[in-house]
Amino acid sequence: MVLDSHEFMTRMARRTNFTPEDRAILQASADWGLEIAPDMADAFYTYMGNDEEMNAILNESEGRIHRLRETFVEWFHEMFTGMDDWGTDYADRRWRIGLIHVRVGIGPQHVVPAMATVVNEVGQRLRSEGKSDELHDALSRICMIDLAFIEQAYLEISTAAVLKETGWTEKLFKRMIATGAAAST
Ligand code: HEM
Repeated sequence: MVLDSHEFMTRMARRTNFTPEDRAILQASADWGLEIAPDMADAFYTYMGNDEEMNAILNESEGRIHRLRETFVEWFHEMFTGMDDWGTDYADRRWRIGLIHVRVGIGPQHVVPAMATVVNEVGQRLRSEGKSDELHDALSRICMIDLAFIEQAYLEISTAAVLKETGWTEKLFKRMIATGAAAST
């Protein structure tokens, strides 16, 4: 594994200020999360289905979209339960989700707006059901942590692949990126 997923989880929880109070309110709302998860999945796959490129990926193989709806419901519910209190199991699961997306060629340009759809959709539902701002904030934070995992996987895996293929050191690679960025500005 390129990344220490547990350490990354801890760092992201600190960075997003994902507090024990956030965890408690999510866990207390886990049944509600599971109840609305199928509607969230509908909204999510309708959004993706409206994009030509993403629709093609989703329907590339037999049964993929069906499988994805089920895994989405699990994923959504896990944000509330935290699995093992957002510990090693949770971090490993999020890292694995990231890796799967890298493998199927899904990059930041797909994932960021997709996660925004989840945040918007769940926000509307929270408002329409009169749920608290605290639950809204906790959900937004955990969505951002999950998003960070998928994004980081893309970066870690592509960097590792380049380093392996070329034999370059990480330091050299980073310098080349910085030089490239400087030349493009
Ligand atoms: C908020 C962002 C997203 C979340 C939370 C999410 C969630 C998931 C989950 C939980 C899995 C299953 C992983 C496993 O099998 O262990 C998965 C797989 C997959 N996702 Fe996503 N996804 C997101 C964005 C996207 C986007 C933007 C696409 C673009 C089309 C996409 C396409 C796929 C595909 C093709 C698979 C593999 C399906 C297979 O098993 O054949 N996902 N996703």
